[in-house]
Amino acid sequence: MENQERKKRVFSGIQPSGDLTLGSYMGAIKNWVAMQDEYDCVYCIVDMHAITVRQNPADLRRRALEQLAQYLACGLDPEKSILFVQSHVPQHAELGWILGCYTQFGELSRMTQFKQKSQQHADNITAGLFTYPVLMAADILLYQADFVPVGEDQRQHVELCRDIAQRFNGVYSDTFVLPEAFIPRVDQGARVMSLGNPLNKMSKSDPEGCVNLMDPPEVIQRKFKRAVTDSETSVRYDKENKPGVSNLLTIYCAATGKSLEEAEAAFAGQGYGVFKPAVGDAVIELLRPIREEAARLMKDKAHLESVYREGAQRAGRVAQRTLDKVHRKVGFIAR
Ligand code: TRP
Repeated sequence: MENQERKKRVFSGIQPSGDLTLGSYMGAIKNWVAMQDEYDCVYCIVDMHAITVRQNPADLRRRALEQLAQYLACGLDPEKSILFVQSHVPQHAELGWILGCYTQFGELSRMTQFKQKSQQHADNITAGLFTYPVLMAADILLYQADFVPVGEDQRQHVELCRDIAQRFNGVYSDTFVLPEAFIPRVDQGARVMSLGNPLNKMSKSDPEGCVNLMDPPEVIQRKFKRAVTDSETSVRYDKENKPGVSNLLTIYCAATGKSLEEAEAAFAGQGYGVFKPAVGDAVIELLRPIREEAARLMKDKAHLESVYREGAQRAGRVAQRTLDKVHRKVGFIAR
């Protein structure tokens, strides 16, 4: 326990706004698992962020619980890391309010994701969608996180978080650790593209191009057999001219642990009719134990409950320490 205090802290979260995908696994969760020994990790299911766009309540509840089961099945370990649900720790909303008073309207207006999402949901541009990055800053700063593993699309939000923290520290003296985005290397499978349109990131909003962690083998195989490639026949990595094949190679390497050279050599002289199902098989074997373990855990609700309750208690203790400090600094009367 004592040397754990010297470990750097990591915080990250995924919204339960859709099912976890092969992209979430290769781009995020796999790295989270690997960071558990070296860092003091806090991993969250950010359900409060999910309601910035309309959700069906029953689906949201089910997906949040499935997400926890899948976190565990992927190897996130509640003995090593804090795993919890954002809405169970009210300090997130409380610090979110305070930080909103240290964030400029103009800063939030410049967020690329806000501009995109407010176009997509033009009939429902809520204040929550606008202040979403402030809640995300609260998530990170409550735990005094040093590193925030996220995809490239979240870099701007982590930068804003850092600006808010720096501003607060400047006004009131050191309060928050300044976090850094930790963006995994793309050549390690960090950016999985859609199987249907390999120029876009694999996304839960594009079901055919997207493999879900819980997809059964025959569905996975069907999606890989239909994956978009090109009119050549050679299996080689060339991101510019062969984005589909390059994406499949990246996935194959991430799933099997082989290097690109090894993979290219293995398929030399073979066409896509051999290559695509081989990638499908590799992914099926990668996901099989995860799917089976997650399904088993979903039948053990009592265990899942004990994990998220314990996680919320541990998270709440860390979060409250930061929030107390913030209350003192801004001038609230101690309770
Ligand atoms: N906004 C992130 C996303 O959509 C999810 C998220 C919420 C997050 N709070 C966070 C990620 C804190 C890292 C740290 O991907």
